[in-house]
Amino acid sequence: MIAPHGGELINRTIESRDGERELHEEAKGLRGLTLSARELNDLVLIANGALSPLTGFMTRKDYDPVVTSMRLGNGLAWSIPVVLGVNREEAPTAGSRVALYDGDGQLRGVLDVEDVFEYDKKREALNVYGTDEEKHPGVAALYARKDVLVGGPVWVLPSEHDPINLSPAQTRAEFERRGWKTIVGFQTRNPVHRAHEYIQKCALETVDGLLLHPLVGETKSDDIPADVRMRCYRALLDNYYPADRVLLSTLQAAMRYAGPREAIFHAIMRKNHGCTHFIVGRDHAGVGSYYGTYDAQKMFDQFSTEELGITPLRFENSFYCRRCQGMASKKTCSHDPESHVTLSGTQVRAMLREGQLPPPEFSRPEVAQILIEASREPASA
Ligand code: ADX
Repeated sequence: MIAPHGGELINRTIESRDGERELHEEAKGLRGLTLSARELNDLVLIANGALSPLTGFMTRKDYDPVVTSMRLGNGLAWSIPVVLGVNREEAPTAGSRVALYDGDGQLRGVLDVEDVFEYDKKREALNVYGTDEEKHPGVAALYARKDVLVGGPVWVLPSEHDPINLSPAQTRAEFERRGWKTIVGFQTRNPVHRAHEYIQKCALETVDGLLLHPLVGETKSDDIPADVRMRCYRALLDNYYPADRVLLSTLQAAMRYAGPREAIFHAIMRKNHGCTHFIVGRDHAGVGSYYGTYDAQKMFDQFSTEELGITPLRFENSFYCRRCQGMASKKTCSHDPESHVTLSGTQVRAMLREGQLPPPEFSRPEVAQILIEASREPASA
């Protein structure tokens, strides 16, 4: 089994009933902080080891080198800050313990404050996202973050049990049980269309299993909601994949839309879940036209195989070719673009709103049907 990032799988979840009771008691006497939805996503991932070797929110010792040079303080590759923001007036003091609450006022854990520090949002935006424009959704989320950062290790209460949301320890155990030695991880924030299916299946031809690992944390409002996507994934797997070669599980991460840097982050989280390979296609984790089509793939060239540990599988832009009568890319097809079926996200959304099925060359009818139905539901319109 591939080693977790940094060598040790972290677990910061309180695992005994007594421990939980004690924490609830102790929290009554602690100063409380309310986490944003994104920070809660990160808290869950720190707790279950998806962000190994992080044991808490970053202190300046890690934050600074991550922003400027994609390294933790100890030199380990790391591309995205994982931080907790507070208002200046509510900032706790280093050395204290604070209780962490969600937006509903539920206690979620505690943090031992090691560092309280100022940061420069514009510098983080330019370094991590390559732009300081507020219309970039990741930058907008960064600008909305509170003004001072609080870093230190956390202890977290167990989350509600969700059988599809497997922790890294659980995916690793399942891979072991299935006897898979090589596993390719697939990140997605979209319904799986034919191009996604094609690159997954190309990868599956050469490895033992696929971890279909949709991201279900915070996404931007015009992305398809996670519950609708889950219905699509199930319909697709039931109809077109061999059950014993795929594991479907969700990842509670927030989407940053940081393109190249986020691709590295996505890969590290999948490595922690036990994947040996990771698919990076066109404009991975991109948004609008902020990143070049293959910038995310190129980012992997900045790290040696040893330091990342997980192997990127780079895929060209894929499409259905009417002349080839099959899925292809420019690596395998010589026909003119007129023969290729390509639709933008905007075009597909417009078709779905009108109740039109996208062509079967673009999307499996079982998936398209679910998307049409969902586009009529007010909550997911
Ligand atoms: S992402 O934000 O999670 O990257 P999406 O769910 O669309 O968005 O993509 C999931 C993965 O499939 C990414 O690695 C992306 O690069 C890849 N991908 C999406 N569409 C294509 C395509 N037509 N050809 C090749 N790769 C693709």
